Amino acid sequence: MNKPFYITTPIYYVNDSPHIGTAYTTILADVISRYQKQLGRDSFFLTGLDEHGQKVQDAAIKRGVDPKDHCDEMSENFITLWSRLHISNNDFIRTTENRHKIVVEKILKTVYDAGDIYEDEYEGLYSVSEERFITEKEAESGQFRDIKKLKEKNYFFRMSKYQKPLIEHINSNPMFLQPEHRKNEILGFLKQPLNDLCISRPKSRLNWGIELPFDKDYVTYVWFDALINYITAPGFLDDKISFDKYWPADMHLIGKDILTTHAVYWPTMLMSAGIDLPKTIFAHGWWLIQDEKMSKSVGNVVNPMDLIDEYGVDPVRYYLMREMVLGQDANFSVKSFINRYNSDLANDFGNLLSRISTLINKNYNGHIPQASSLGEEENKIKSLSIELIKKFDFNMSKMSINEAIEETLQFVRTINRYFEHMAPWKLVKEDLKSAGTVLYTGAEALRICSVLLSPIMPKRTEMLLSVLNTDSINRGWGGLEPGKKLGKHTPLFPRINSDNI
Ligand code: MSP
Repeated sequence: MNKPFYITTPIYYVNDSPHIGTAYTTILADVISRYQKQLGRDSFFLTGLDEHGQKVQDAAIKRGVDPKDHCDEMSENFITLWSRLHISNNDFIRTTENRHKIVVEKILKTVYDAGDIYEDEYEGLYSVSEERFITEKEAESGQFRDIKKLKEKNYFFRMSKYQKPLIEHINSNPMFLQPEHRKNEILGFLKQPLNDLCISRPKSRLNWGIELPFDKDYVTYVWFDALINYITAPGFLDDKISFDKYWPADMHLIGKDILTTHAVYWPTMLMSAGIDLPKTIFAHGWWLIQDEKMSKSVGNVVNPMDLIDEYGVDPVRYYLMREMVLGQDANFSVKSFINRYNSDLANDFGNLLSRISTLINKNYNGHIPQASSLGEEENKIKSLSIELIKKFDFNMSKMSINEAIEETLQFVRTINRYFEHMAPWKLVKEDLKSAGTVLYTGAEALRICSVLLSPIMPKRTEMLLSVLNTDSINRGWGGLEPGKKLGKHTPLFPRINSDNI
């Protein structure tokens, strides 16, 4: 029995419109979850929305609507986009749901009862835009806006108490923080004494949050609330069987911007509450536009809806997965998207299907020919395809998705070269049987590539497999059935004319 798998994305701020950056994390989690399912694992994939906090309250006041109504309205942007992007999440959590509120209250109470929450008057610099107290050093960095001096009574989580156990956990669990350079960043950060964390906000300033169970004049700090979503959804309080099955999460996928909250706040909170830590926190880099982070405040966001409308969902998913080396930043441009599309998808992948189906339709009445006996060239293709699957799995296991894709495309190019070499379009005129062997071999190799690429491009590969009249997710050689009739198709990836771009 395969072990169940649990993967999460950050829960996105409901106030912001989704863009390519946020879509990226969700697509990445979707690809990994689909891949795990293909391997036969029961994968639980969670995404959702972060709906409390000052910004949401302010936006609702500005619009003159109730904050919950504001969240309901804004949440539609995400729900629609995830559905258009064919995101196969198993749950969608919103922090304003009651199932979440009761878990946050429970954790606060547990941590409080453990003696890890204390009250203190604090005077310090507060960044309104970040909704948290910042250090003098941070204030000087120029990265924070709306800074004011604030003196107020608040509740603090004894994060400092868990500094040593956290360092030990990181050191003894090499997969806990990935990639390696992010782990080193956190270990570097933990060389300084760790401050306790202010986890409350007085209602006089902000009331759009979850009330502290031990003081009704305060609400919970938005990050303390949000991180807990990861245990709410699998059923921390309401479904013990499911919770025990999926927790600890196999992977929290995040962008590098929220590494500290996930790699320091979250594990120390869990330690205090006596809950196991997630197995891996993986931080990817940013999508940049001309070397600048894509973000709402910079005003350079690309709307994924526009791209999908123009070029289709799967090509967008393909580009994002192929172009980013996980862990590093990547530059986004429509020009590089079109180049990638035309070379990989239109020329190499789509064209191979057209070649195969044209020849089979013309010479075999549309029926997949038999591979009578495999010659040296065919055996080479067969063993390369078996090798490819191994390499694909290896790359996926080390989160090198771009390499897994590139190896697959290299194999597609090898199949195209095999066709050039064997010239089945000439061979059909002399020896239908031998030409049939070549066509079967090419089609079967293409089928294997499609199965491998299906987590990345679920719809187009489904179309391709239905043209080959197979719904096989069989990864081994020989899944294609001779004699079956090919389905009709239009070009899978029509070329994009890039002259005007
Ligand atoms: N609400 C918090 C997360 C709470 S998780 C318990 C938050 N939300 S967010 O809407 O700002 O989304 C942040 C995430 O969006 C990043 O961690 C990253 O996964 C993704 N991205 C946002 N901009 C991005 C890029 N320009 N490039 C890549 N990913 C980006 O922070």
